[in-house]
Parts: sequence; C-alpha cells; structure tokens
Amino acid sequence: MIRDILIHPDPRLKKPCDPVAEVTAELSQLASDMLETMYEAPGIGLAAPQIGVMKRMIVMDCIKEGPPEPMVLLNPEVTWSSEDLSSYEEGCLSIPDQYAEVKRPAIVKVRWMDLTGAEQERQFEGLWATCVQHEIDHLDGKLFIDYLGPLKRQMITRKMEKLKRELARG
Ligand code: NI
Repeated sequence: MIRDILIHPDPRLKKPCDPVAEVTAELSQLASDMLETMYEAPGIGLAAPQIGVMKRMIVMDCIKEGPPEPMVLLNPEVTWSSEDLSSYEEGCLSIPDQYAEVKRPAIVKVRWMDLTGAEQERQFEGLWATCVQHEIDHLDGKLFIDYLGPLKRQMITRKMEKLKRELARG
C-alpha cells in the first residue's frame, strides 16, 4: 500500500524515533509499504518518520540501472566513517523539488537488523553512503537542509509552507 509522505515542516520530521524491538508481521508489511511508496515517488530512500511512523527503520535502493536492490534496515547505526568527505546534490521526498550540495563522509560502515532479525554490517560508498546517512539522519529528526546556512534553509522552508497551503486548498 502506498502511504502519504509528510512534507516539511512537520513536527514528526523533527523528532527522534524509537528503536524497533522485534520483527513482527506488521513491521514486515510496513517495510513493503515503505518500499512501494519509495519506488512510486520515485526516490532512492525513505525513512519511517516520513510516513508518520516514529520507528528506527529505513528503506533504500540506489541502483539506477539494472535489477533493483531493495534494502530494509532496522535500527541502523553508523559504526565507522571515513575522514574523506564527498559532496552530493541531495534532495528529499519530504522536501520536493529542492536540492542542495551536502558534504558527508565518503564511506561509512553501518550495522543494522534485517527483516529476519539477524544483525548485518556493511560498508557503503558513493551514492549508497550519502543515502544511508541521509536516511539515518531522518531517524534523529534531522533533514538535509539542516546542513545548509540559515538563509537557504529558511528560503526552502517558506517554499514548502507555500506548497503545503496550496496542497491543502486542493
Ligand atoms: Ni529525506
């Protein structure tokens, strides 16, 4: 089922999320809804708070061509970051049509629980590294615009407030 994606500003996008305690049928369904919602948007990553579910859970697939590689990460945690930074023009499904360069560690190691309840750890590079860090930020109530200067951030926030008023009017 495709879920509605919250648009910034929304208090749910600013709050830290709760850890996932165990994998349930409900949680597996949520993961499949999140993937469906992400692919349909279309996007390369989605965090649970973006659909109003305050759980530490993200989905992503950064493959642009070739067979899809859907990933579901529960309680993801960065365990190591490279000193090397890389800059990507980031966007966010909760901040439609706004993009800005953000610098982040180029390579990160991430540990998480998968949908079988098993612990996983993997190194991410390139777009995957940017995406996983962006999505984990969402779980801590942080958006990519929080890395920008106050003026740029305010300008984007005003545009989003205007967009939300227009959407509300229908
Ligand atoms: Ni985002």
